[in-house]
Amino acid sequence: MARLVTTQLLLLLAWVIAWGAQPTASRARTELLDVCMDAKHHKEKPSPEDKLHEQCSPWKKKACCSTNTSQEAHKDISYLYRFNWDHCGKMEPACKRHFIQDTCLYECSPNLGPWIQQVDQSWRKERILDVPLCKDNCQRWWEDCRTSHTCKSNWHKGWDWTSGVNRCPAGATCRTFESYFPTPAALCEGLWSHSYKVSNYSSGSGRCIQMWFDPDQGNPNEEVARFYASARTSGAVPCGVGALPLSLILVLPLWLLG
Ligand SMILES: *[C@@H]1O[C@H](CO)[C@@H](O)[C@H](O)[C@H]1NC(C)=O
Ligand SMILES: *[C@@H]1O[C@H](CO)[C@@H](O)[C@H](O)[C@H]1NC(C)=O
Repeated sequence: MARLVTTQLLLLLAWVIAWGAQPTASRARTELLDVCMDAKHHKEKPSPEDKLHEQCSPWKKKACCSTNTSQEAHKDISYLYRFNWDHCGKMEPACKRHFIQDTCLYECSPNLGPWIQQVDQSWRKERILDVPLCKDNCQRWWEDCRTSHTCKSNWHKGWDWTSGVNRCPAGATCRTFESYFPTPAALCEGLWSHSYKVSNYSSGSGRCIQMWFDPDQGNPNEEVARFYASARTSGAVPCGVGALPLSLILVLPLWLLG
């Protein structure tokens, strides 16, 4: 009888250990800092690039983009994505500079690790999701683009690509940005399928990702990534699951000896 109970307890113990050892989130990356996502043009690892082009130059001390990518980021219909910003007539230069900066951040930043997610897409294995974009950066982007024109509120999907360049699909009319993106959040969050989330914080707070920054003061996004990475790891232990096996493991030996 005692023998049977012991066997059952050992089975229970084995099950509890197996349960505790299961990964809590299989998609989670182990490295969240100083990383490049596994996407179309990113380098494998961040490193210095002293010749980064114009708007991408803030990242030259440590970048996930090559010089070539930084040059292409400034072109219309570049080889990067064959994306035409001028799909509803000329995009105002004041507006376009935000799209160039957005491309530089996406291609060059080594500080987006906490928001990298795996995806099942033909052209990339990873994407960013809900990067907390500084409120002021999003507001300015929206204001400077209000008067330019577009025909869609999500620029990731639904284009007519038959010509090799994105064109407005049948039935999508060209209207002002403001009519497709009524608020700054509609633009920054809707544009790339929630790659960004508009943060409550503003530039200089150390709590939101800056698309624009002065590299003479260092890259402010390093601290932001560290903050969210540590918030993530300390919050990652599910206390319900974690606490139960531990208490059982501590009590079991006493019980078996008794
Ligand atoms: C970047 O590289 C691509 C592919 O090799 C090439 O087609 C393109 O011309 C290059 N761009 C620049 C600016 O050198
Ligand atoms: C964002 O800011 C508003 C106004 O200051 C405040 O009421 C709200 O609680 C803040 N939200 C977060 C998530 O910090």
